[in-house]
Amino acid sequence: MCGIVGYTGSSSAAPYLLDGLKRLEYRGYDSAGIAVSDGEKISQARAKGRLQNLCDETNDGKSIVGTCGIGHTRWATHGAPTKSNAHPHMSNDGKFAVVHNGIIENFAELREELISEGFVFHSETDTEVVAHLLEKYYDGDFKRTVLKTINRLEGSYALGIVCIDFPNEVMTVKLASPLIVGVGVGENFFASDVTALISHTRNVMYLDDGEFASITPDKITVYDCMGAEISKKITHINWSMEAAEKGGYDHFMLKEIMEQPNALKATIEPRVKDGKIVLDDVKLGAAELKNIRNIVITACGSAYHAGCVGKYLIEELARIPVQIDVASELRYRNPIIDEHTLLIAVSQSGETADTIASIKECKARGARTLAIVNVVDSTIAKISDDVLYTWAGPEIAVATTKGYTTQVAVFSLLALYFADELGRISEERYKELYNGIRNIPERCQRAIDLNNKVRDLAKKYSPKDSLFFIGRNLDYAACLEASLKLKEISYIHSEAYAAGELKHGTIALIEEGRLVIALACYHDLFDKLMGNIKEVKARGARVLGVAVEGNRKILAEADDTIFIPETDQLLSTIPETIPLQLFAYYVALENGCDIDKPKNLAKSVTVE
Ligand code: G6P
Repeated sequence: MCGIVGYTGSSSAAPYLLDGLKRLEYRGYDSAGIAVSDGEKISQARAKGRLQNLCDETNDGKSIVGTCGIGHTRWATHGAPTKSNAHPHMSNDGKFAVVHNGIIENFAELREELISEGFVFHSETDTEVVAHLLEKYYDGDFKRTVLKTINRLEGSYALGIVCIDFPNEVMTVKLASPLIVGVGVGENFFASDVTALISHTRNVMYLDDGEFASITPDKITVYDCMGAEISKKITHINWSMEAAEKGGYDHFMLKEIMEQPNALKATIEPRVKDGKIVLDDVKLGAAELKNIRNIVITACGSAYHAGCVGKYLIEELARIPVQIDVASELRYRNPIIDEHTLLIAVSQSGETADTIASIKECKARGARTLAIVNVVDSTIAKISDDVLYTWAGPEIAVATTKGYTTQVAVFSLLALYFADELGRISEERYKELYNGIRNIPERCQRAIDLNNKVRDLAKKYSPKDSLFFIGRNLDYAACLEASLKLKEISYIHSEAYAAGELKHGTIALIEEGRLVIALACYHDLFDKLMGNIKEVKARGARVLGVAVEGNRKILAEADDTIFIPETDQLLSTIPETIPLQLFAYYVALENGCDIDKPKNLAKSVTVE
């Protein structure tokens, strides 16, 4: 995820900025840059790729003169990870430089307006509008100019700004993106993350949404959104560097579980506009879809499980036949694929070797390809005809959490979009699901609020040997991921079973005390699932149920139940997955496992 830093003091700024950016490296990025003011000019340096490239270009900062500056590591969203898209961005008159985290949602309108007024753009980013707005509104008063500029911005932003006429001053603004001001002696700082600060100071001020600050070496002045001065309390941080990187959480996995409401918001919000689903630049309208006879989904690991959810959703809503195959099978099985096939490849990293090979194989047979990918400009994004990005941000824990749920969110959008384009859904049902999708981030926040309850249940039920996850339809697809998550990080064997299939297979393994986790959120098959719970209870199983709140009928059968917030049955996979991710996490914690780096697993498997 992007990171920002700022420094003003009596020392040379560039080495401080590079050091701060280094400490943000763990968050993932694909380009970096700094801008430093020396009172006469603003010097800017930017480089694609590793931060080392920027260090090499600036002789570790020594070639950039000045004591006040800003820096940025960029995780590409608007525009490819190139040098010209890297921050800082400058105003045309060279007076202002800006770094930004977040998304300026109204950037397209602002860009048009600024171009019509003669401003020249040098990047594809949303951020660049901020630099030109600052120039447009500049009247010699830095604070007033910043205030006028932010009044024009919609979306989320943490900004760092320098102005040539105020050589010792950096301005920083916060709205719905993290921002912390570091309080030093004769020097002050800001950053998007405490990790960039704590080697210089442990005294910080947390800005609240809508606030902005003027920072000079000796003074920090914080303003509210109307520009009135306010006083802020200084907090002393005693986290270790490692704890700081994890945002105070014990593991990246837990941090990433908690980040899901925001990751889902970033993935969904830009695609739901005025009652309609808008799918970026994807060129798959009614005409193209009429040419598609079947869809093949391919992926590996959890991405495959997201595809399983996608199959149910696309078939149910758009009535297009969908096959799904793990990529290592698809690539070698001589599949029936031609120019009437749409291949949907799913991958968090965009670099999984088997998935890449499957795409190439299907393309060679004439298929049209659509990728659902998290990493911008990754190989899978590049070789596919169309791309839908999951805006989950970098995932560091090996076991995916927000990567998976954002993939499922994209499938929900896609299935509803296909159904609408093909005229296969009523207006009323479209509206219901459209609103349901918009509400997913809020429902997930409520699912996260179950954290303490799930922690207690994980202690109570902590399985020592094999367990079963059972469910039907979308609940079954959710079982596959829940079971994998538990196995991956706790090393306890579990099986995901389609609930109706258990009696055809391994029901003999259901014996006294065996834990069965029963997912019962798919409303239409709830009663059937109750029958399956009875079957396992009759053989002595302990049953932990997962059901939608209000559905108290499950209490008659399950020993304990996790109630997830109410959602449409087609959209419950995401909120029901969250407590099961937490369950896996706490079971692994109980067992003393290395949660972020489970044995024998790699985050991205780039070999066959
Ligand atoms: C590896 C990881 C899994 C992941 C799979 C697919 O096996 O350990 O957690 O789901 O690759 O990765 P991708 O980046 O393509 O989603």
